[in-house]
Amino acid sequence: MKYLKTRFQWIRWAVHIGALLPLVVLIVDALSNHLTFNPIQAATQRTGDTAIILLGLSLACSPISTYLNWKDAVRLRRTLGLYTFIYAAIHLWLFVGADYGYQFNYIVPEFLQKYYLWVGLPAFIILLALAATSFRGAMRWLGKRWKRLHRLIYLGAILAMLHLALVIKGDALRLSGDAWKPLLAGIIIGTLLILRVPRLRRALLSLRHKPVAPAAVQLASPPAESTLVKN
Ligand code: HEM
Repeated sequence: MKYLKTRFQWIRWAVHIGALLPLVVLIVDALSNHLTFNPIQAATQRTGDTAIILLGLSLACSPISTYLNWKDAVRLRRTLGLYTFIYAAIHLWLFVGADYGYQFNYIVPEFLQKYYLWVGLPAFIILLALAATSFRGAMRWLGKRWKRLHRLIYLGAILAMLHLALVIKGDALRLSGDAWKPLLAGIIIGTLLILRVPRLRRALLSLRHKPVAPAAVQLASPPAESTLVKN
């Protein structure tokens, strides 16, 4: 038991280090001028990609716990979700603050022009709402509504994938440019979302715990007399 506890602590540390590493590398690259000739764009892309990867990992916790029977996986969901929000917030700041210097007279027309921002903003608002209510106090305060609110992650993930699909330059049919990114994210995140659908989950789990056929039970159990008749 103690061994399992320490093993989980190690995994938790690995998650923190793994999640913070892209940020550290980004800061080091920014300070040493290693962020291409357009550093803000490069940083926006990196933080966006990291946010999508962390979102996928946080969505994977539930299926891992259900299908692979590693129950501790759900205990990492909140941490991964919070890191997703942190990267999305830095991503948004790079656009609004670093790139546009909070000049909303430029930001608003840009927003109205670019479709990918129409889905990026609601995705971010959902992540913000989920991060703000991911603490014990909020859970207690919201009661049953907490679960309903946190189901918004499905919508948030779909909007984030749409944002990625609209922003990427490339041809999805020819798989040119970066078109592989939304395709890969769509396949992985889409599968993870589908695996969470309660009806499918029940069906898949019942396949795993298939009841043993009556004939097999008869063969496996000793003859009735031997268990009843005690000499
Ligand atoms: C208001 C919210 C958001 C704004 C203003 C925003 C802005 C942007 C911008 C300007 C780009 C294009 C960078 C370029 O020039 O190539 C971009 C790309 C991207 N964004 Fe967002 N975004 C928002 C929300 C999100 C969220 C919530 C996610 C994920 C959880 C996300 C993930 C991405 C990804 C993966 C890319 C593509 C990066 C690449 O080129 O590899 N964004 N976003």
